[in-house]
Amino acid sequence: MASLSDMPTISELVNVPGAAASVSQRSLLETARRIGDHRGLWDQEVEFDLARRHYARLYRDHLVEVWLICWDYGQDTLLHDHGGSSGAFAVIDGELLEDFGSVTGGKLTTRRHRAGGGAFFGPRYLHNLVAANAVPAVSIHVYSPPLTSMNFYCLVRDGLYHLRRIPTESPEPDTADLVDEAADRYASA
Ligand SMILES: [Fe+2]
Repeated sequence: MASLSDMPTISELVNVPGAAASVSQRSLLETARRIGDHRGLWDQEVEFDLARRHYARLYRDHLVEVWLICWDYGQDTLLHDHGGSSGAFAVIDGELLEDFGSVTGGKLTTRRHRAGGGAFFGPRYLHNLVAANAVPAVSIHVYSPPLTSMNFYCLVRDGLYHLRRIPTESPEPDTADLVDEAADRYASA
């Protein structure tokens, strides 16, 4: 195991040589995996809370931000986009189920991301992530540019219903009231 003295900083892992000039969606996933591989850089932030996902910002500059998210059993995000940012996530521990699609409509597809898995996405992407395994999950999320808002949606008979745009600088804005609204819309669809 690397000691702290020879461990790279998160800034060094984000700004690897050759990566600074362009931030491709694939490079965001590579960044998430690089940071995930250096557990000593973020392990002290890991915490699980049954009431709410625990999250911590690990890094931010004008191009990129990095977040750690800790998932207890059953916790999900609601269907959302990232306000026009591209991004990626890498599952480090546990596993996450994902329903994903596009803000332009169409069907959602479901896939499972086990530890070591992950995905990258563009500005029109929307998804819902849920920790559907009894083992708590840990994931690293990278956004470019850094988040300024997120849109939340629910599925109704006619397709996608836009619940609300929430200005936010974190991937975990308070959506407690949207959960009930989404359930009501779904029930009446
Ligand atoms: Fe997301």
